[in-house]
Amino acid sequence: MTEIVLDPHTPEFAADPYAVYARMRAHGPWFHAETDTWMLTRIADVERVVLDRSMVRALEDGASPEEAEARRRRMNWHDMPYHQRFVQTNLLESDGAEHDRLRAVVARAFTPKAVDRLRPAIAAHVEGLLETVAGQSRIDFIEDVAAHVPGVVIGRLLGVPDADSPRLRFWSEEVVRFFDPGRDDADKARAEHATRAFHDYLVDLLDRRASVPEDDLLTGLLARHGAGDLSRDELIATVMLILMAGHGSTIDVLGTGLLALLHSPQADADLRADPGLLRPAIDEMFRFDPPLPYFHRFATADCTVGGRDFPAGTRFGLLYGAANRDPDRFDRPDIFDIHRPRARHVAFGGGAHFCLGNHLARMSMELVFTALHRRYRRIGLTGEPLRFKPGLSVRGLEWLPLVLERA
Ligand code: HEM
Repeated sequence: MTEIVLDPHTPEFAADPYAVYARMRAHGPWFHAETDTWMLTRIADVERVVLDRSMVRALEDGASPEEAEARRRRMNWHDMPYHQRFVQTNLLESDGAEHDRLRAVVARAFTPKAVDRLRPAIAAHVEGLLETVAGQSRIDFIEDVAAHVPGVVIGRLLGVPDADSPRLRFWSEEVVRFFDPGRDDADKARAEHATRAFHDYLVDLLDRRASVPEDDLLTGLLARHGAGDLSRDELIATVMLILMAGHGSTIDVLGTGLLALLHSPQADADLRADPGLLRPAIDEMFRFDPPLPYFHRFATADCTVGGRDFPAGTRFGLLYGAANRDPDRFDRPDIFDIHRPRARHVAFGGGAHFCLGNHLARMSMELVFTALHRRYRRIGLTGEPLRFKPGLSVRGLEWLPLVLERA
């Protein structure tokens, strides 16, 4: 069996994590000693874990306060009052009835129908954005276009002013970076600092919204807080999560999705000829290069996964990016194929924590790709070298320089 080396911070891994994933998949569950985690790469094993409610995000195993503190220190999750209060305890990090209560408070805002109400405003934003680069024949798609999409999309849903989205992007990236297994003390300090700044911003915004209500999710959440359905801290943590969860991920998948299309001229031509292919094409972009490829769960009971027995307390790494290339589910998985027969992938996870923002993310993608194709006869790569961000928890391009020919 080939030796497996998982070092997510090397340029080699960033360039092609899928070669490493393929070796791990051949092995089955594989132990990563540095993070004390059993990594799962086969889609059946990943689904087995996410669909099992005895598998949790946060382990409450009756440990004494001293043990719990020791564990936090081992995971470098201590001495971060704001991060602990507003990030480490949000709805994504909670389980069971507590999780379901918090999720129920916001779920209605994310249904396809609710999200569709934002379509005209977001389409207009995307048009305006492309108009700002209309005179340029060469752009960096990431910084000039993609980076300006999610802040405004999520901001419109919540009721956050468009002009604040650059700050929100910065804080989101700082806070989220802390979740990467390779984080260090500097990342930790920056995450705590960003959480505090984010919190102060939201307190101010919520105070203003409380005095002048609007037709938006912030106003709706304030009403639920007033009715006693969620505490003040839970309200802030939930808003922060919504702003963070879809930020970098949308930017990244816009970039990798476009790159996949440009690497496959036939797919690009087929999509231009038949807009009915847009939804399957976008689904394939999510399968092919999911922007959030790694999450975890803890087992609360002894269990069997991938034919192996594990004790309660085991930490499982869910490599969604690897599972989406599993040949047991997807024929020729390393090929980007927009005509692929529909098969369930795990870019948005599964089970209780299944991504709330998936309709919103898909709609943003639809609107951007439709506008790009309408405006540009040809979109090409400049040939300059591309680099992917390092790390296990994200997958996205550092930049995507393009040459454009107007239609
Ligand atoms: C752009 C692509 C996106 C991808 C690939 C993605 C992926 C995911 C994944 C994999 C999870 C599950 C995490 C787990 O298994 O532990 C998740 C959860 C979540 N996502 Fe997304 N997401 C995206 C966009 C968004 C957007 C735009 C929003 C909101 C505006 C959002 C909000 C959430 C929330 C609130 C959760 C937590 C749900 C829960 O714990 O019940 N996501 N996302």
